[in-house]
Amino acid sequence: MYKNPIETKEYKDLKKHYNSIQKDSIRDLLEEKNKENTLDNFSIESDGILFDFSKNLITKETINLLVKFADSMNLKSEIDRMYAGKKINKTEDRAVLHTALRETEDKQYSVDGTSIMPLIEQERNKMKNISEKVRLGKWKGYGGNAITSIVNIGIGGSDLGPLMATEALKAYSDRNLSIHYVSNVDGSDIMEVLAKCNPETTLFIIASKTFTTQETMTNANFAREWLVNHFDSTEAVSNHFLALSTNIEAVIKFGIDKENILEFWDWVGGRYSLTSVIGLSTMISIGYDKFYEMLKGFNSMDNHFRHKPLNENIPVLMGLLGFWYNNLFEFDTHAVLPYCQYLHRFPAYLQQGDMESNGKSIDRNGNKVNYSTGPIIWGEPGTNGQHAFYQLIHQGTKIIPSDFIGYINPTNSTDDHHEKLMANYFAQTEALAFGKSIDELKQENIEKELIPFKVFEGNRPTNTILFNKLTPYTFGQLISMYEHKIFTQGILWNIYSFDQWGVELGKVLAKKILPELKYNFSEKLQHDESTNKLINYYKKNRN
Ligand code: F6P
Repeated sequence: MYKNPIETKEYKDLKKHYNSIQKDSIRDLLEEKNKENTLDNFSIESDGILFDFSKNLITKETINLLVKFADSMNLKSEIDRMYAGKKINKTEDRAVLHTALRETEDKQYSVDGTSIMPLIEQERNKMKNISEKVRLGKWKGYGGNAITSIVNIGIGGSDLGPLMATEALKAYSDRNLSIHYVSNVDGSDIMEVLAKCNPETTLFIIASKTFTTQETMTNANFAREWLVNHFDSTEAVSNHFLALSTNIEAVIKFGIDKENILEFWDWVGGRYSLTSVIGLSTMISIGYDKFYEMLKGFNSMDNHFRHKPLNENIPVLMGLLGFWYNNLFEFDTHAVLPYCQYLHRFPAYLQQGDMESNGKSIDRNGNKVNYSTGPIIWGEPGTNGQHAFYQLIHQGTKIIPSDFIGYINPTNSTDDHHEKLMANYFAQTEALAFGKSIDELKQENIEKELIPFKVFEGNRPTNTILFNKLTPYTFGQLISMYEHKIFTQGILWNIYSFDQWGVELGKVLAKKILPELKYNFSEKLQHDESTNKLINYYKKNRN
């Protein structure tokens, strides 16, 4: 039996503490009441990352109690169980070993008593060979032309990870290659991408863990037809199609050559698969060496998570602070705000990572939970978000704990863009924490009637995450940091973070509805009144 978190003594202590400090403000906590709340107590520097959590509604005692609570939920031994290859994804009977994919030393990981390191190395070498061949112009299309366009067809974890990483590391990419991503089963997605591609020089990567996903298979078949029509030969498929999957049988059935298949395994979750062969498009874009540097960054944070004591452990503290706000303050959402244009798809990636992992309401004992679990994750790069939704974060009725991610040194040297970007980055967390009082406004001689509108209450919690520069290495650290935050929270909420049964029902119903949308489907619809009406309206108006 796993513990119900809110029935532990440690949670109850936390709750008592919450009751005693909930009315305090960040300003008081930081500046006046508690002189021990110095930056040193509330920031950690590790392998080039500064994680500063001083602008939170916490005291030292909060952190002590949170860490005790994590201990009571056996976080440390659960981390060890993951690394030991135990089948912690119980409902799918799978181990969870994405961390082995970026192991760069000679460490051993096994599943069911068999080492998985040789498999990982074999596929990594295949990735290396393919990416080098493409980058050197040696991978030729059926007509003898070198490949210049890569189209990754996949969805969810088979799209968001490599897409986000390729965008994030664009500055390190080979600009002679164009990398595209097709995910949606809205045909416009693939049509727009194909319009930019020449069949002679295009390589399709079909990325799907299961190789059964409707969206991906529809787009893959469409791309295949587009290519075969052009060459008027199915033989062309071997020069232009690769597959990344765990389901080798289905790939072969689709018609992709065995030597063009790169494999991964069921102990790699889709949303944790960026460092598996799923990252091939990113490796083609930035090259093997940079990709390997990224793996090292991942590995550095993996080791930090695995070995650091809980009170010095960045992902653990991020997870605990998230728990503090989600379960004690009952704040429902969490914003992730990278002050970095290259990370513009990071919030979308994290939405899957976090919400598909921890959006659960059944605990590990199979009971309905009586507490809140995963928050709504959202965000946009700064400063764009400032001119869109920050109004609500500053003055709305909802409190939104936020992560501010920034880089000390810019990737591109321009005039003073970077100082302006970072001035905004620092200004926002200052404004959110300390706000602007009536007295301050009066001192500024603001008209009396306008004062209520111009007041900023402040007291909005933020984390500041600061790196030296966006490199493949620091990028790896960042992603791993959030992966382990998600793991931590799954343990605190006593839920299974590595399955995703909640996505199944919609898939089943869509399968049932698909034939009903055909114009010649004449049977009586068997859905509820509302759905029947909508389907009929659609069919009546469909050209
Ligand atoms: O439907 C959700 C999901 O299963 C995700 O977990 C996964 O990343 C995505 O679909 C794509 O799955 P696949 O890689 O098997 O095509």
